[in-house]
Amino acid sequence: MAEKTILKALAGETQAVPPIWMMRQAGRYLPEYRATRAQAGDFLSLCYNSDLAAEVTLQPIRRYGFDAAILFADILLLPQALGADLWFVTGEGPRLSTITTPEQLAQLKPVDEIDATLNPVYETVRILARELPRETTLIGFAGAPWTVATYMIAGRGTKDQGPAHALKAENRPLFEALLARITEATIEYLSRQIDAGAEVVKIFDSWAGSLKGDDFQRYAVAPAAQIIAALKARHPGTPIIAFPREAGDGYIGFGKQTGADCVAVDDSVSAEWVAQHVQPDGCVQGNLKSSHMVTGGQTLIDETKRIVRALSNGPHIFNLGHGITPDADPDNVQRMIDAVRGA
Ligand code: CP3
Repeated sequence: MAEKTILKALAGETQAVPPIWMMRQAGRYLPEYRATRAQAGDFLSLCYNSDLAAEVTLQPIRRYGFDAAILFADILLLPQALGADLWFVTGEGPRLSTITTPEQLAQLKPVDEIDATLNPVYETVRILARELPRETTLIGFAGAPWTVATYMIAGRGTKDQGPAHALKAENRPLFEALLARITEATIEYLSRQIDAGAEVVKIFDSWAGSLKGDDFQRYAVAPAAQIIAALKARHPGTPIIAFPREAGDGYIGFGKQTGADCVAVDDSVSAEWVAQHVQPDGCVQGNLKSSHMVTGGQTLIDETKRIVRALSNGPHIFNLGHGITPDADPDNVQRMIDAVRGA
């Protein structure tokens, strides 16, 4: 059976010390990441340079010995593979060509053409599968259809996902056709990552929190369930983590409704609430506020231990509630790990 701690947690095992990794663990808070990114030239060149992408994936493993490595890539590579223009504006974030008309949707590439763009990502996975320490689990990922669609419709990150909600209200068939295309492409993309050596995959629905009522069911739960069912049919042994960020009460039952092996939770819900309402259904991942990686101190230690304790009666993977930020202190990461592992 599973020997790696992350796989044990995903199989439902309660462990005395929870395994740990961190969203955005390869990132700008690390000087070695900044150096490799400068060597690559820019962020997208880093994503598509398999050797350097594998290198930055390995950096936090070498420095901290996390129990999992997450493939270095981005959720927006998939829209690019479907034919959207993509670029990053320094200090601002991603920009994409937009999809708001049937003509623009029709111009997207068919799903069987995405590998032409994404092959370097699969190569990164193959390198990592060879080079990671034997105890470290390799996690692949993709964005959830709704979150990816919010970027494809608006052409950028938005605070309230207004443009995507507007398209949904004005032309629901077009909105749903775009979601269906992303869903289909995501199944192929994740399946290829698993073929290349990803042992676990995670679906990031960063903007699930803005889907209310029926919309949450239709555009967060249903696409995740569809992706997971297709992946389970092809790769029955590969565990899947779902992260419907800021879902609130939507976290309850999310694992059962989608078939996910683990539900990742953000820091707007308390670990005690998660223990009561989400963990009874299976493994949970989370959920330290990432600002503690900036502020540190005794509060960081206390909060870390509180979360470990609250979730100690069931399967748990320790993580942040969202990605670590560039202003984080790398020493605080070590303090968090020591607090989790009881050193
Ligand atoms: O977690 C990891 O270490 C793996 C790599 C990873 C990145 N992005 C690298 C990245 C993962 C899993 C992602 C997911 C991602 N990308 C999400 C979902 C998770 C979330 O954060 O909500 C989203 C919404 C994106 C889209 C995206 N990529 C945005 C909005 C930005 C700009 C914001 C920022 O932090 O600058 C990115 C850029 C990005 N993706 C960076 C990294 C390390 C920073 C780019 C840089 O080095 O300049």
